[in-house]
Amino acid sequence: MSQSPDFNRVARPYDFISRLVFGNALVESQVSLLNHIPENSHILIVGGGTGWILEEISKIQSAGLNIVYVEVSNKMISLSRKRDVGQNIVHFIHQDIEAYRSEKLFDIIITPFFFDLFTKSDVSKLFLHIHKMLKPNGLWLYTDFVPQKYQTRFWQKMLLKSMYLFFGILSSVEARTLVNMDDYFEKDYTTIVEKWFFGKFIRSNVYQKR
Ligand SMILES: C[S@@+](CC[C@H](N)C(=O)[O-])C[C@H]1O[C@@H](n2cnc3c(N)ncnc32)[C@H](O)[C@@H]1O
Repeated sequence: MSQSPDFNRVARPYDFISRLVFGNALVESQVSLLNHIPENSHILIVGGGTGWILEEISKIQSAGLNIVYVEVSNKMISLSRKRDVGQNIVHFIHQDIEAYRSEKLFDIIITPFFFDLFTKSDVSKLFLHIHKMLKPNGLWLYTDFVPQKYQTRFWQKMLLKSMYLFFGILSSVEARTLVNMDDYFEKDYTTIVEKWFFGKFIRSNVYQKR
């Protein structure tokens, strides 16, 4: 797989910049799925960024969850460690998800704005690797920008181009276009929930593994 993106340089201002551009949409789109987490779940979060999602999860379920938080950026992970996670147990793993192995399968996997960073060949490897760690009937909470075929507006295409330019320069993101993740989920997953945000530029799904 090619080198992971490097979000260290943008870790501190990341939430500020993303809220400047998207308002509350990035938060709302992710939070909208969290009520699907059953009690006492074993959860994998991949690329959680500054970790605000841990606080949002603990507002809904303040105890009983066992969360593995895999984040490749050391700055992002140190910001995440400062979050109030309630009585939930969080294992912070500073590692590329590709190198992470778990003997125990997860009930829930969360990948928010993660797959948009990668080229198709990397997405294929990462998807399969993460997919194998989810239990049968487990839920995958997926939020990301919609694939090109759904982008009907000029501003959506321009915004996407600008983001790839920005993160290409500052975070070594190699992708220049979104991979259509529908092709990956279609085979082994049933869509339980689908929600759209920010002028249909962002989509949140709960997928259940068959
Ligand atoms: C676009 S940011 C999204 C952050 C967060 N999910 C949010 O919505 O605010 C992607 C995150 O994935 C992390 N990341 C990138 N490649 C990774 C990898 N291979 N394994 C684990 N984390 C990775 C980055 O460090 C970054 O924090």
